[in-house]
Amino acid sequence: MVRKRMVEEEARRLLGGSPVLIVSTSWRAVGNAAPIAYAMPVSVNPPLIAVAVHPSRRTHDMIKFGEEFAINIPSKVLLNHTQWLGMVSHTVGDKLESSRVPTFKGKEIDAPLLEGCVGWIECTLHDFYTMGDHTLFVGKVVAAQADTDAFDQNTGMWSLADDEYKPLMYLGGRTYSVLDDRFDATVEARPVEQMIEEGIGRELEEAEAERRIKREEEAERRDEAERRGEAEPDSSSLPRELPDA
Ligand SMILES: Cc1cc2nc3c(=O)[nH]c(=O)nc-3n(C[C@H](O)[C@H](O)[C@H](O)COP(=O)(O)O)c2cc1C
Repeated sequence: MVRKRMVEEEARRLLGGSPVLIVSTSWRAVGNAAPIAYAMPVSVNPPLIAVAVHPSRRTHDMIKFGEEFAINIPSKVLLNHTQWLGMVSHTVGDKLESSRVPTFKGKEIDAPLLEGCVGWIECTLHDFYTMGDHTLFVGKVVAAQADTDAFDQNTGMWSLADDEYKPLMYLGGRTYSVLDDRFDATVEARPVEQMIEEGIGRELEEAEAERRIKREEEAERRDEAERRGEAEPDSSSLPRELPDA
C-alpha cells in the first residue's frame, strides 16, 4: 500500500459515496429541483438537516427567498434524471418540467416532491451561513416519508433488499453507486472501563481475524464451485490485514 498526498481541494472527494439528494424548491409558484451531494443531519432535536449550495445555483436563491426546501432521495430509477437536473440550471429553462419526472404535493410545504425517490424530507428554512464558497442552509424537518419497500422503519435503516429501491450514492463526475453489503459489528456492549481494562484492542483483532477466516473460507468455497463450473469467477479482493501498530 502506498499513501499518496493529495491537493487539499480534492480531499472532499474522499467523502464520495454518500447519498445524493435532489433538493426541490418552490418560490412564487415556480418549482425547481437540483441534485445536492453536500448534505448532513446536524441536530436530532430539533431535527435539522444542512445542505451546502453554491450561490450560482438557482436553488440557492429559491431556498433563501422561498424559506423552505424538500430533500428527495432518489433511487437508481432516477439515475439519469439526477444527472440531468445537475447539468442545467433553472435559469436556462424549466428543467424539472422537461425531465418529465412526476411530482406530488408535500404534506407541509409547497416545494414539489419527486416520484422515483425512496425518501422525502420537507424542511422550512431554520438558518443559513456563508461557508467559504457555498452557503450552508439549515432546514428544520417538518415532515418526512419513506417508501416501505426501501426503508425499514422498525430498524430505522435502509432495507437494501432490492437494487431498484436503494438510495443512490454519488461517487463524483457522472458516477453513482448503491450500497451492496451489510455487516454487523460483533463488539459486545459492556461498561467502557471494563472493555478498556480487558484489552479491547485484542478483542477487536480477534473479531477481525474471525471475519478474515470466514471470508477466506467463502473465497475457497467459491473457487471450488468455479473449478466445478458452478459459479461465476469471483472478482472480490482478498481480506485485508491491518498493518502492525
Ligand atoms: C450528483 C451531483 C451533486 C451535486 N451536488 C451539489 C452540491 O452539493 N452543491 C451545489 O451547490 N451544487 C451541486 N451540484 C450542482 C448542481 O446540482 C447544478 O449546478 C444544478 O444545475 C443547479 O441547478 P439550479 O441552478 O437550477 O439550482 C451537484 C450536481 C450533481 C450532478
